[in-house]
Amino acid sequence: MAAVDFRAEAEALFAYTQALRRDFHRHPELGFEEHRSAGIVAAELRKWGLEVTERVGKTGVVGVLRGAEAGPTVLVRADMDALPIQEENQTDYVSQNPGVMHACGHDGHMAMALTVARILSQHRDALHGTVKFVFQPAEEGLGGAESMVKDGVLEGVDYALAMHLWNEKPLGWLGIADGPTMAAADRFQVRIVGKGGHAAHPDLTEDPVLAAAQVVNALQSIVSRHVDPLEAAVVSVTMVQAGTAFNIIPQDARLEGTIRTFEPQVTSEVRSRFVRVVHGVAQAMGCRAEIDLAPLTPAVINHPAVAAVVREAAAEVLPDAAVDAQARTMGSEDMALMMYDIPGCYFFVGSANAAKGLDWPHHHPRFDFDERALPAGVAVMAAAVVRVLAQRPA
Ligand code: NI
Repeated sequence: MAAVDFRAEAEALFAYTQALRRDFHRHPELGFEEHRSAGIVAAELRKWGLEVTERVGKTGVVGVLRGAEAGPTVLVRADMDALPIQEENQTDYVSQNPGVMHACGHDGHMAMALTVARILSQHRDALHGTVKFVFQPAEEGLGGAESMVKDGVLEGVDYALAMHLWNEKPLGWLGIADGPTMAAADRFQVRIVGKGGHAAHPDLTEDPVLAAAQVVNALQSIVSRHVDPLEAAVVSVTMVQAGTAFNIIPQDARLEGTIRTFEPQVTSEVRSRFVRVVHGVAQAMGCRAEIDLAPLTPAVINHPAVAAVVREAAAEVLPDAAVDAQARTMGSEDMALMMYDIPGCYFFVGSANAAKGLDWPHHHPRFDFDERALPAGVAVMAAAVVRVLAQRPA
């Protein structure tokens, strides 16, 4: 392996990374509307000599970098979309797009991936294979990964890597887990059908409001009574809707929410309990239930051998970092679709700095991160790409 000091190279390009990040931050774009961002990404990738394909999965961009030697292909994914949030920060790079904000750090993800592409383009001799940089639109629940996968972005890919700036942890922390690291997410929509009537004569009705209340309660027994206490699961009812007037018992009631799990056997157990509880309780209350339980994304599961190589890369470039090999969040990520059949690693780069007030959570109107996290992420990713191609973990 060529001895490249990726930390020094990432530091030397900090001004480049920061300028890109701030430009993206000033001009945030919602999912599948990332036209300006995609244009900049494509132009930068071409500048560094990559083969660029635009409009992959609608507004996505792919840049291919071929190493000096033949070998496997590693995909490096960065997401590009912003959120429908009015920014409340007062920085000179504050969002110029009213009601839209990079409040999750995807501006940083684009800037870091472009810097990795720039660095690796100058070290093709160190690359034993091909790097496919994938700039994905619409990560925030809009199906951007699915859209790129449908357009064939995974063809010929042997490994998949991605990273996320993480404001729940301070600068200097890295989360590089073995196995599941982000949760599988399901969305449920339930309609409880009863028999409406006059509020003064509930005896002549089958009250779907009472049934819905019992269902919400009973659902809380799934995690507490049916999931191994050493496993993680969430069942959250987030919407309850019924009725039109104070003196009418309505015909039906609607519930919506989400299920989050990590392990496939927990996912299927929670799903089947969910269906049983909803039908059973509704029926016991004289109603019936219609259930739409749809998987949104599978869990993001790191391949232990790939994660081990990424931890080696981190130890090489950031020997002082605090590495958490058990990092997990109940959040979900559509990168799971790109890692479903492909061994990969999704890691987190601590980006909070409480002393500077840079520790607001993701998706908050005051979210901002310490930009010193950018060269850290760049160095780890660049070193990880080189190591994965050279070592071919399996
Ligand atoms: Ni995000």
